[in-house]
Amino acid sequence: MAPADKKNIVIFASGSGSNAQRLMECFEHHPHIRVAALFANNPKAYALKRAETFHVPAFLFSRDEFYNTNEVLEQVQSFRPDLIVLAGFLWLVPQNFLQAFPDRIINIHPALLPQYGGKGMHGLNVHTAVVSAGDQESGITIHRVNEEYDKGEFILQERCPVHPGDTPEDLATRVLQLEHKYLPEVVEKLLTLKDNPINPS
Ligand code: GRF
Repeated sequence: MAPADKKNIVIFASGSGSNAQRLMECFEHHPHIRVAALFANNPKAYALKRAETFHVPAFLFSRDEFYNTNEVLEQVQSFRPDLIVLAGFLWLVPQNFLQAFPDRIINIHPALLPQYGGKGMHGLNVHTAVVSAGDQESGITIHRVNEEYDKGEFILQERCPVHPGDTPEDLATRVLQLEHKYLPEVVEKLLTLKDNPINPS
């Protein structure tokens, strides 16, 4: 199948980008899906370097461009995304994106929402809160994105144990393994299942 016939993923990332890397690895030679571009809001995001390694076009944008103009939206639209994946992206998605891509933006969160979500609940903050609460399990939530942090419809949750004596870093490692396993699977399903509303035949 020629690349033009592939489904396009656009990734948004703010930090390390290990989930972005998983997506780029999994779809590098995929017959029907490709990572078309990566957008980052942080010049120090290692995700930008990872994109370069995979020869995926990468773009840096500012808060002003994202919230006060259509520049980022238009640049994203030029890649004709079938799915936008927020993979460690820390800003709220503005209305112009939600309207342009209804139900086509998903996020991965490193906890079992609706617990441990919302503004400021990212990275080690999440795992510190889970460990401090004495919870016996945590996990991941992959969900659709709406105008509130971590509030859209759930697509998938997977669980893992929290062991006695776990540090937040221990738990982060276990949860990240779940993310790396399930994010590519969910993306592939969303983009290939025939009865999916984002995937008209
Ligand atoms: C992941 O835990 C993800 O769930 C959260 O931010 C972290 C990003 O990790 N949204 P990475 O940048 O993909 O390595």
